[in-house]
Amino acid sequence: MSTAGNITGMPRDDRSNFTISLNRKQPLLSYRAIEPQDIPQICGFTLSETELFYLSPEADYPLTPAQLRKTSRGRLEPTVVLDDGEVVGFASLYNFRDGETCFIGNVVVRPDRRVRGVGAYLVETMVALAFGKHRFNEVRVSCFNGNITALLLYAKLGFTPYAIEQRRDKRNNTVALMHLKITKR
Ligand SMILES: CC(C)(COP(=O)(O)OP(=O)(O)OC[C@H]1O[C@@H](n2cnc3c(N)ncnc32)[C@H](O)[C@@H]1OP(=O)(O)O)[C@@H](O)C(=O)NCCC(=O)NCCS
Repeated sequence: MSTAGNITGMPRDDRSNFTISLNRKQPLLSYRAIEPQDIPQICGFTLSETELFYLSPEADYPLTPAQLRKTSRGRLEPTVVLDDGEVVGFASLYNFRDGETCFIGNVVVRPDRRVRGVGAYLVETMVALAFGKHRFNEVRVSCFNGNITALLLYAKLGFTPYAIEQRRDKRNNTVALMHLKITKR
């Protein structure tokens, strides 16, 4: 079953049994809240300074457990995706203060498990948690212009752009930060 375009139709959050069949590439994945022992593994998921900038612009490469703990502080639903018990993806929710909207951040998939549907499952799971469990009405993501893979992933899942912001990368080059959103139906 492909879940693209069906985000708001997903089950309400139920950590005890929420396992969905995502698509032809990755038939069975599950998720759970992050546990302390997951943190060092997740730090190894970013392959380069550029990738780390994409998922955590304030962090310095290589990502360390201390940086990940700091960036996760105060966030909602720090969540890992499991494939047969192995941690293969991570994301969390942030900027949720108004109770209406929240952002998905720190989205990352283990390098050797990319392009198999894990990223789509991860983002759909975070959207389902935001709409279902937390009752937000809009979910947003921010994505740098060079990150074509992530932009296409978000577009495939129904996110649409609503703003573009000028930023500087770690080498002081001008980059565009694209803001995208999906609204609860
Ligand atoms: C972005 C990222 C999370 C995608 O994870 P993934 O597991 O590879 O994604 P999926 O396999 O679920 O792909 C879903 C869609 O994303 C897009 N996509 C994924 N990999 C792609 C690639 N190499 N080239 C182009 N599009 C790609 C496609 O639209 C794909 O849909 P399709 O398979 O039907 O064509 C992963 O590449 C990653 O961790 N990147 C580094 C961190 C990062 O950039 N995070 C995002 C911050 S905004």
